[in-house]
Amino acid sequence: KRVAVLISGRGSNMSALIAAAMDPSYPGRIVGVLSNRPDAKGLETAERYDIPAVAVDHKAYASREAHEAAVLEALERLNPDIICLAGYMRLLSPEFVRRFEGRMINIHPSLLPLFPGLDTHARALAAGMKLHGCTVHFVTERMDEGPIIAQAAIAVEADDTPDRLAERLLRAEHRLYPHALRLVLNGSVRMVNGRAVTASQTA
Ligand code: GRF
Repeated sequence: KRVAVLISGRGSNMSALIAAAMDPSYPGRIVGVLSNRPDAKGLETAERYDIPAVAVDHKAYASREAHEAAVLEALERLNPDIICLAGYMRLLSPEFVRRFEGRMINIHPSLLPLFPGLDTHARALAAGMKLHGCTVHFVTERMDEGPIIAQAAIAVEADDTPDRLAERLLRAEHRLYPHALRLVLNGSVRMVNGRAVTASQTA
C-alpha cells in the first residue's frame, strides 16, 4: 500500500514511519512527504532516504482554499492509499477530510479525548495527571476528535517539565505510529460509521 506523510516541521514521527516501512515485511511504503513549510527539517530527512519530498508553501497562496487545493493536487499525484499527518499544523477543510475519510490518520500527543489542541504536555502537568500519552486516530471534521486507532501511555514523573515529558512521550510516539499505521494498512482497524472497528469485531 502507498502512504503519503504530511508534515510541518521536525518530522521525527515521519522518520519513524519511514524506518518501519523499510522493513520488507511492513504492509506499506512511504511514497512521498509533503510540507506546508519549505524550511521543515523533515523535508531534508525524507530526501536523505530518497523519498520524494515537496513543500507547498501556504504563504505562497492568496487563500487557505487555494493552498489546500495545491496540497490536494500534490497529494493526488502520489496516489496514496493512506495519508499520515505527522505534526501537520494546518487545519483541513471538511471537504478535504471527507475525501480521505477512513484513509487519513493523525498522531496527537495526549490521551484523547483529554487535551485536544496545543500545549498538551503543560496542560497534562497542570492537571496533575500521573499518566500521559499519545493517540493515533482517524481524521474527521472536528480537530483531534476522530475515532481512536491506538494509544500509548507513559508515567508522569515528579520532576517532569513540559519539555522533559514531551521528549519522553516522543519516543513512545515513534513506536506507536508505525504500529497504528500497520493496523490500518493490513485492515485490522477500519473506520465504519464514524467508529474505529477492529477486524475481530466485524468477523
Ligand atoms: C508530535 O508531538 C506529534 O504528536 C504532534 O506534533 C509533534 C510532531 O513532531 N502532532 P515531529 O515533527 O513528528 O517530530
